[in-house]
Amino acid sequence: MKSVFALGVLLGLVSLSVSATELSGEAVFKKSPCTACHAVDKKSVGPSVRTIANFYKDKDFATSSKQLADKVRIGGKGTFGVIPMPATSNSFSDADIKTVVEWMLKY
Ligand code: HEC
Repeated sequence: MKSVFALGVLLGLVSLSVSATELSGEAVFKKSPCTACHAVDKKSVGPSVRTIANFYKDKDFATSSKQLADKVRIGGKGTFGVIPMPATSNSFSDADIKTVVEWMLKY
């Protein structure tokens, strides 16, 4: 009985650490500074996630995700109108930007 309990605790710990290190793109997005300007389905300050995904759906995923991650890091404008996207603070990591951008493109 004791060992069953220990196993349960162990499994619980393993699943906790997996979810902490491998958050889904959507989960990272929800906690990101991106939500200030991007919503999933409607235009906000910036284009919706769906609009971005549609725009890039016929383009090469690897190329687009790299270019967009760079643009999100340093900021830029001109694809969806005149409103620019500001640079992203370094407190939001390159890895998190990559995760969110790839999730957006696959949306
Ligand atoms: C202050 C508002 C703001 C924030 C915060 C913001 N964006 Fe944007 N984003 C914009 C605007 C405005 C555009 C449209 C820029 C354009 O037309 O080129 C845009 C465009 C984009 C695009 C498409 C760019 C292109 O050239 O096709 C992606 C991808 C994107 N944002 C991802 C993100 C991610 C990821 C974050 C969070 C790390 C983020 N944005 C945070 C305003 C913002």
